Amino acid sequence: MNRPLLIGPFTQLLPMTGLPLKGALKDEQLHIIENGGILVSEGKILKVGVFDELKSDDVDIQHIEGQKVCLPGFVDSHTHICFGGTRARDYAYRNAGKTYLEIAKAGGGIWDTVTQTRKASQEELVKGIVSRSKKHLKNGITTIEVKSGYGLSVDEELKMLRAIKRANKTTNASLVPTCLAAHMKPKDWSEDNDYLDTIINELFPIIKTENLANRVDAFVEESAFSPEEIKPYFKKAKEMGFDITVHADQFTTGGSQVAVDFDAVSADHLEASTEKEIQLLAKSNTIATALPGASIGLGCAYTPARKILDAGGALSIASDHNPGSAPMGDLLTQASILGTFEKLSNTEVLAGITSRAAAALRLADRGKLETGAVADFVVFPTDNYQEITYHQGQLKPHMVWKKGEQIH
Ligand code: NIG
Ligand code: FE
Repeated sequence: MNRPLLIGPFTQLLPMTGLPLKGALKDEQLHIIENGGILVSEGKILKVGVFDELKSDDVDIQHIEGQKVCLPGFVDSHTHICFGGTRARDYAYRNAGKTYLEIAKAGGGIWDTVTQTRKASQEELVKGIVSRSKKHLKNGITTIEVKSGYGLSVDEELKMLRAIKRANKTTNASLVPTCLAAHMKPKDWSEDNDYLDTIINELFPIIKTENLANRVDAFVEESAFSPEEIKPYFKKAKEMGFDITVHADQFTTGGSQVAVDFDAVSADHLEASTEKEIQLLAKSNTIATALPGASIGLGCAYTPARKILDAGGALSIASDHNPGSAPMGDLLTQASILGTFEKLSNTEVLAGITSRAAAALRLADRGKLETGAVADFVVFPTDNYQEITYHQGQLKPHMVWKKGEQIH
């Protein structure tokens, strides 16, 4: 066994520990270790504390020069970074005032990306995921959830999920795959055949056998699947032991009720949620995930994050990085901007992309800097953590560590 490595001192070390999973958070609750250090061995954290107190003859030391703030590696709990092509035309159409329906009629929308993704080889999809992950890693995101959902047939969904699995072996980021075979009703599927039945009976078992994902997602929306239509899909997924997550209440309500009924790990989007849905989520175990990148990409309302937190809900913040509604893909920029519009404390924003985001993926070993956690952390060139959201994504990490290795 190699000797443990002590890294530090950091002017401020934010372990993100000791915070409740649910409800509003004040900056006074943020635990800050001044002149902190992290003791790492075999890719895991042995101890977090004051640098001078962790020093001993039994450890090697990597000295950190200058003023630095260290946090857990960021977790992006909702992305669609496996795709082919672009949707720049949709963006221009939207900004010219065209409606969702007009754009879909002109050949745009999710189906356009399905067509372009089907044309891509598995190899090309792997390359795309790895290059997008690289960008995320530079920005301090060390764990990235990645959805399928642009295949919409058994074979094409498998191509995507296998590409995500392969990319996970190449990239330094940890990728968490999710099956989103119910992203929309595939246009090449006749009314008589039940697409969801085929997914349930043919795709789900292969996903299990090949260990391609342990999470299942659906877009519950008027333009995709109604709460009634999606029930058999989630019922079967749950019986097979998949975690459930839902694209909910993006334009119309209904999805968050489905999420709570199926005890989903998260309900994501929620831009259209009203007081009723906010209360429902707050009382449940389901984590609410805000996707400010989609609000910015579509030019529509933000998730009512303040109200969700004040009602006692848990709030994760994710990028939703995808070619259609959220092409920017910069989590820290988006989370910081959500903070300004929704009046979130720094602690709420930072927990939303660390500890609470990890909980949305049911990952107990990250999102916090504590003994036993994976040694994923990000270091910013500043002496004050408040500078991080203040610069709205323009203060870039000075270093990024993944599994105890400095990768940036
Ligand atoms: O999360 N809302 C549904 N799905 C994606 C959009 C995908 C797309 O437009 O390609 C989302 O925003
Ligand atoms: Fe999404």
